[in-house]
Amino acid sequence: MAVRSALINVMVRAVNQAARGLKRDFGEVENLQVSKKGPADFVSAADTKAEEVLRKELARARPDYGLIMEESGRSEPKPGCERSWVVDPLDGTTNFLHGLPHFAISVGLAERGEVIAGVVYDPIKDELFWAEKGGGAFLNDRRIRVSSRRSMSDGLFATGIPFLGSKKNDAVFLRELKAVMQSSSGVRRWGVASLDLAYVAAGRFDGFWEQGLSAWDFAAGILLVREAGGLVTDLEGGSVSLDGHALLAANEHLHRGLSKLIAEAQKA
Ligand code: IPD
Ligand code: CA
Repeated sequence: MAVRSALINVMVRAVNQAARGLKRDFGEVENLQVSKKGPADFVSAADTKAEEVLRKELARARPDYGLIMEESGRSEPKPGCERSWVVDPLDGTTNFLHGLPHFAISVGLAERGEVIAGVVYDPIKDELFWAEKGGGAFLNDRRIRVSSRRSMSDGLFATGIPFLGSKKNDAVFLRELKAVMQSSSGVRRWGVASLDLAYVAAGRFDGFWEQGLSAWDFAAGILLVREAGGLVTDLEGGSVSLDGHALLAANEHLHRGLSKLIAEAQKA
């Protein structure tokens, strides 16, 4: 049985509370698909509401910590404190908007730029992924590990496909996709970077790569992968910073193979 620290309990309480609202709102989205106006404004209000709940809960429990949030920006930690929450209240907004039951709340805690705790919660499947630095990674109460597959041809990989308005180089991405799809068992695009990383941590995906991400998409997820025994770097195999935008995560056997494919595709 996994023992959650006081810190993880704070994070779990906050995500649970935000999840209640999101689940209720997700139920409404289906009705709104067929309405003339569509669900867009409703979904952006749901996102903002979830962010408010998280901000309130996290600030109440740890008033000194700073906050880096997708919708409302950044507030610095109080003097003497070097910790900041990194929060995505609704990762997978497009899925949510289309009534696809695959989205998450992601909360990471960074200390001097290093992620030391992370929670990714999928309210529809009631799957809570969590990790604290040095303590392993968990799905609900079960310890998780990255997969042990060793050959690219057996591997299943996740990525993010560029879309209208995203700052990614489409031509380069298509080369990357071609390289990975021709060498592996398959590539998935599920639209939730935090869950893609959580799934690498749980051994469901063998690896993940994406460009154009922001800290709130991946802060919690990168700790999950590392604490589950996997490797996370930028696309060149260098270290990942919260200011970075590109990630490559995989189990230790496939990380090199995946980075090689991506590097070659970038050069081609
Ligand atoms: C997005 C998702 C998606 C990724 C995008 C992100 P959002 O976050 O994580 O998987 O491909 O780059 O922006 O907008 O749904 O919070
Ligand atoms: Ca996001």
